[in-house]
Amino acid sequence: MQTGHELFVHGLTDMLDGERQLVEALQKLSDDSSNEQLKKAFASHRKETERQIERLTQCFELLGETPEDTECKGLKGLIAEKKAFMEEEPESDILDVFQVGAAIKAETYEICEYKSLIEMAGEMGHTKVARLLRENLAEERAALKKMEGFSKKLKPNEMMTAEQEERSQAASGKSTSKRAA
Ligand SMILES: [Fe+2]
Repeated sequence: MQTGHELFVHGLTDMLDGERQLVEALQKLSDDSSNEQLKKAFASHRKETERQIERLTQCFELLGETPEDTECKGLKGLIAEKKAFMEEEPESDILDVFQVGAAIKAETYEICEYKSLIEMAGEMGHTKVARLLRENLAEERAALKKMEGFSKKLKPNEMMTAEQEERSQAASGKSTSKRAA
């Protein structure tokens, strides 16, 4: 690889594969969510992701390039983390919290990728391509905001075991049992 153009096409290819992996992953996230709103949010971002793939395909057409056969290792890693976590047999409330965190990581990754691709497209004068990428970026930003909202709202049913809670209360001097004694 020698040129910025090649680097740009490589980045686009990476995102195309990443988005394809995410279509499948978002379906899993939706299926595995117990919170109804979260389920819907993942399902609607899945639909959005399908449109993002179409836009990326348009980008290749505009550039007269064909996507190489490559794999987005970054998003693959995040998806692998979720699979590994499932082996911990999380309770449904814990799984929801985990999934929101995983989605925040994936959206942040995508936002970084799109931002740098948009910058490169601008530098090379690919105005139409940049416009399409900005549409994807806007959707990722909205998805991130939505997930951050869930992150504030969804908490584990139990933060600590009863024993840990007692210990932490004692440490902060809030133990009622102590005062009673
Ligand atoms: Fe995406």
